Amino acid sequence: MTKSNQKRFTQAIIRKGIYGDTMTENGCQYRERVLTMDTMNPNVKRVEYAVRGPIVQRAVQIERELKMGIKKPFTEVIKANIGDCHAMGQKPITFFRQVLALCAYPDLLEDSKFPEDAKSRAHRILQACGGGSLGAYSTSQGIEMIRQDIARYIERRDGGITCDPDNIYLFTGASDAIVYPLYSAALAELAAVQISYYLDEDNCWSLDISELRRALQEAKKHCSPRALCIINPGNPTGQVQSRQCIEDVIRFAAAEKLFLMADEVYQDNIYADGCKFHSFKKVLFEMGLEYSEKVELASFHSTSKCYMGECGFRGGYMEVVNLDPEVKVQLTKLVSVRLCPPVPGQALLDVVVNPPQPDEPSYDTFIKERTDTLAALGEKANMTQEILNQVPGIKCNPVQGAMYTFPRIHLPPKAILEAKEKGQTPDMFYCMKLLEETGICLVPGSGFGQRDGTYHFRMTILPPKEKLKIVLAKIKEFQQHFMEQYS
Ligand SMILES: Cc1ncc(COP(=O)(O)O)c(C=O)c1O
Repeated sequence: MTKSNQKRFTQAIIRKGIYGDTMTENGCQYRERVLTMDTMNPNVKRVEYAVRGPIVQRAVQIERELKMGIKKPFTEVIKANIGDCHAMGQKPITFFRQVLALCAYPDLLEDSKFPEDAKSRAHRILQACGGGSLGAYSTSQGIEMIRQDIARYIERRDGGITCDPDNIYLFTGASDAIVYPLYSAALAELAAVQISYYLDEDNCWSLDISELRRALQEAKKHCSPRALCIINPGNPTGQVQSRQCIEDVIRFAAAEKLFLMADEVYQDNIYADGCKFHSFKKVLFEMGLEYSEKVELASFHSTSKCYMGECGFRGGYMEVVNLDPEVKVQLTKLVSVRLCPPVPGQALLDVVVNPPQPDEPSYDTFIKERTDTLAALGEKANMTQEILNQVPGIKCNPVQGAMYTFPRIHLPPKAILEAKEKGQTPDMFYCMKLLEETGICLVPGSGFGQRDGTYHFRMTILPPKEKLKIVLAKIKEFQQHFMEQYS
């Protein structure tokens, strides 16, 4: 059969409907769907992602109702559920946007309104792009020049410990880089098993090795744990790990033969006095050859957080250390299947790791914008903790870093009972009621995991200061009313 005959034959088969066509009431034929809830991969159905779960769906619905003129006890929905900085009003760093604008529309390189340092960065990035355009695919691992710049950035950050650009992989944001293991949602999709460990709430959410050991021993009864994921500074709990703690985790990973995954996307978001960011890579290499030559580590960073907050550009990287060379070949193969990460995100990442220098025209503005953004976040971190701790029934640890607080809420037994009757977890019940009554959108602690019998919510510190004050005052009022209602 010739190709064109073959095509006609196939079309005829489809028209005749021998693939299970069914007649509808009005006489039309339709094909039964191949992809249904029964035929789809069951792992997909197990995926749950609290940060964008039922509360957010209801928030979107409420926004629509407000637009339709339906009266509510509030006039807007405030989304304090997700770490989306710019959506909450954080301003972009001018230099980054200038370079990106120049890269996207190179005719602007002739425009005298753009500073020379932005032009030289853009020119350099474009030279590294296929055909000198952001619109070309890049190599799958990411543009080599950008990986080199990232490697130099890591070396500066880690006091000179060497970084090989070949160990850097660029991704569509850090969450893509984490090749899903970080999020329980994605684990479900891969049919992998999540082993939860709890942070020590009474100790500023620090990580206790005996708790890690407990979780590991428990899990070993059912599976062979392979990786240990750490988020530092922490989400949802806002803690910053001490150097001692990081060393302990590395020793534990070495002893238990676990692959370490360090999510360090909040590495510049440190607010509390006495807290400092220590990268896992640096600590690992300072612990001596016994560890630095043995422990496998993947660490992650992103353009989405810190003072940049550029979530929409989807720029992120992973550095791997001590990866088995054959596994590395497999990893490189896997990333090739996705062609390449978004090139504008890669370009942004390049400017983040290669910002204006003291002798360049954009330096002063860059430093001022970065300092102001981080200072505003620090101020809001303190304010959040202070105000929430004044509310009876709410207890909140210091927000040492990142962008979140994870306060504990006291829920009276009557409220817990009513939640159960509604088939909701008690903190989901609380957050849903808060949303309906105040328009504030938070994430219930149960979406992240918490010790049995304790209840929390996660809230970002991202709303602008004046709005955050209102949010905190409304939570205070709601909590008081809630306690009266259910006591
Ligand atoms: C700990 C952590 N890692 C990764 C991400 C996602 O980062 P990205 O936007 O780079 O995918 C988030 C987002 O909130 C996060 O909190």
